[in-house]
Amino acid sequence: RTVYVNGEYVPEEEAKVSVFDRGFLFADGVYEVTSVLDGKLIDFDGHAKRLERSLNELDMDMPMGRDALLDIHRELVRRNGIGDGLIYLQVTRGAADRDFAYPEGATPTVVLFTQAKPGLADAPLAKEGMKIISIPDLRWGRRDIKTVQLLYPSMGKMAAKAAGAHDAWMVEDDHVTEGTSNNAYIVKDGTIVTRHLGNEILHGITRAAVLRFAREAQMQVEERAFTLEEAKQADEAFVTSASTFVMPVVSIDGVAVGEGVPGPVATRLRDIYLEESR
Ligand code: PDD
Repeated sequence: RTVYVNGEYVPEEEAKVSVFDRGFLFADGVYEVTSVLDGKLIDFDGHAKRLERSLNELDMDMPMGRDALLDIHRELVRRNGIGDGLIYLQVTRGAADRDFAYPEGATPTVVLFTQAKPGLADAPLAKEGMKIISIPDLRWGRRDIKTVQLLYPSMGKMAAKAAGAHDAWMVEDDHVTEGTSNNAYIVKDGTIVTRHLGNEILHGITRAAVLRFAREAQMQVEERAFTLEEAKQADEAFVTSASTFVMPVVSIDGVAVGEGVPGPVATRLRDIYLEESR
């Protein structure tokens, strides 16, 4: 595999980042994951805009313009022959002597790599539906910034696996914030409910697109917090992310949601999303 590190395309075995990199020492960096279907980047513009916003919130600049970033994404897709897959992009504040204060004039570290995922859009889980568990949301208060501090979501994923489930939804003050790596939705009496934007959740790029398509298709959408209890009594539930698109949820903490099979709204939104964004 060829990866991109600070201006160069190199074989992954040769790629190097400093042990003093602040991404490594402080999780002082942000990332994006963009999906690729049939060699085409999905929602690239949205991801580039959010990257800029995340960097701004941490007093960092975009390491290059959007077009240059797009060129690197395309070049990696080409070099690695990616049909379906993911592109991971990480920008950290760079390497500096260890100090909590941000260093003056550090050069950001920019890394991109690809992950081939043949058949990404035909994941069997979309037919089966995901089982999820709930866990308390113990993350920091700026979840709108897409930082690389992902240890708590990793722990949540492991707790889900241990419970025989696929993923976890995080709960704060009885209300669902989001999934470990996706935004959370329920459907009740035909209305799609998903948490409003704020510092409590990541502003999903797939979320924005799916809500737009839902409204265009005259579906009712409510952006508000919902409780875990509401979710268990909903007709349907689903999640969205760049890596799963729209993925139905069929049980929460062992309680079947609706009929316990992927629901019609989630299935329809998945079809619309895949058709419109390809
Ligand atoms: N995760 N919420 C969280 C906490 C996430 O980590 C993600 C994405 C999302 C969905 O955002 P988007 O639709 O822009 O992918 C919501 C990526 C896929 C990851 O960490 O791999």
